[in-house]
Amino acid sequence: MSRGKPVHVFAEHRRQSGADDIRNHLFNAKNADTFAETSLQVVRLLSERMALVERPFSGILPAELAAMFDGLALDQPLDSFDAALEELDGLYLRDAVYFHHPRYMAHLNCPIACPAVAAELIAAVVNSSVDTWDQSAGATLIEQRLIEWTGRRIGFAGGQADGVFTSGGTQSNLMALLLARDNYCLKYLNGHSVQRLGLPVQASRFRILASRLAHFSLQKAASILGLGADAIVPVDCDPNYGMSSAALQAAIDDCRHMGHIPIAVVATMGTTDFGSIDPIGDLAHICRLEGLWLHADAAYGCGLLVSRKYRDRIAGIEQADSTTVDFHKSFLQPVSCSAFLVKNRAHLACLAYHADYLNPLSQARENTPNLVCKSLQTTRRFDALKLWMSLRVLGPDKLGEAFDAVIDLARDTHRLLERDDDFEVLHQPMLSTLLFRYRPVDVAEPKLLDDLNSAIRKMMMREGQALIAATREGGRCYLKFTLLNPDTTLMDIQTVLDLVRRYGQGWLQARSCEPEALLRLAEAN
Ligand SMILES: Cc1ncc(COP(=O)(O)O)c(C=O)c1O
Repeated sequence: MSRGKPVHVFAEHRRQSGADDIRNHLFNAKNADTFAETSLQVVRLLSERMALVERPFSGILPAELAAMFDGLALDQPLDSFDAALEELDGLYLRDAVYFHHPRYMAHLNCPIACPAVAAELIAAVVNSSVDTWDQSAGATLIEQRLIEWTGRRIGFAGGQADGVFTSGGTQSNLMALLLARDNYCLKYLNGHSVQRLGLPVQASRFRILASRLAHFSLQKAASILGLGADAIVPVDCDPNYGMSSAALQAAIDDCRHMGHIPIAVVATMGTTDFGSIDPIGDLAHICRLEGLWLHADAAYGCGLLVSRKYRDRIAGIEQADSTTVDFHKSFLQPVSCSAFLVKNRAHLACLAYHADYLNPLSQARENTPNLVCKSLQTTRRFDALKLWMSLRVLGPDKLGEAFDAVIDLARDTHRLLERDDDFEVLHQPMLSTLLFRYRPVDVAEPKLLDDLNSAIRKMMMREGQALIAATREGGRCYLKFTLLNPDTTLMDIQTVLDLVRRYGQGWLQARSCEPEALLRLAEAN
């Protein structure tokens, strides 16, 4: 078997084709030096850049950054990799939002583990596509093993669990509702196959029930699936912001009373804003009685699958028919790294298509593992590799300890906020998010408090010393900590709260003075 041409043949070829020939820029053995050189340049630049990152964001405004793109001609390449890298530094790296910074506390973006980063390079270089065996080989087996591992962590019994890596929670939730819809039709509408025949006439009456705090990707999925966004019925929460099972039962009864057809319930195992966890055991009981598909959206809460301290908070997740897990939220994995799992692999059948050129039925009969049969995507990145390397190098306990650390930090932050008269905190954290707002004792007017907190968030973004999020609850504006970095300390939190207070006081003072003061404040920030 030939493993490649002798080096002198390549060298000769290079001379003939000239330095600018595209063949000299391909990733292959003869260009190994170029690969090593450019990779090292990137590593060097990133290391230098990281050393300079003192805050999670430079604070640049969209218009300011956009101005730097003026005059760039994509039809005219720069003359070297160095020049392109230097340009990129100015256009992107200098003003990027850095999730690894301990004072990045805005959205569900985690810092990433080094073995996962190294795996990204391998995945990019080998460039497997995990759709068919003949494009991936071992990559398919690695992904499959990780799906089995995740299924066991969830507690899916019976050896029938299966799944696939996806681009994120949005795609996983779409798959969940697709399966719920199609399996309802097969089971309750005389074997109606949506896959072949399209939607049945009853589809406009299908309803999916989810907590009012569930992620908006459910509405998006319902819309894509031809059910309409209004098919998602929001269910009220209990005082801990988990779905109320009594409210769920009432909502199902209401649906049936109105002639609607409930087909599924989504339990959120870690809501985006509150980190609250729906009481899945109670919801599963209702679903069994009502004959409904139960999907667990553990996009955020999946970190508990490797937690030794707090695993019990998602006890009962194994009762779900399907689950979303986002390793890129709570497993220290780079975007994208996510998976969709089902308890019973037979339910994935409605995703399977066979193309003669790619995955003919004969291959299925020969038991050739082709993951494309379970996926919405065809060509698909080997995203499983980073999780694989993280588990092989660090092990699950270390990843779990990182998640435990941020849960503990959220608990301590809650105590800090409760003791501080300048702040109102909305809830006891279940995971690692906290909703709070700056509310000095002498400010009570609701609209003023909204404006104040929304201004604080803007000033924070403009200065970039720390990044936090803002959201609305009960019609009012709140600030939000999303803590995912085990490197963040209570001291960092205190620093951010001091910033919030400083911006807030500045805004209130400026507001009570003259318009020029507001202008000066805006300029300073
Ligand atoms: C609970 C929940 N589900 C789903 C999603 C969507 O995940 P993704 O952004 O990976 O598509 C999110 C995102 O924040 C989420 O918080």
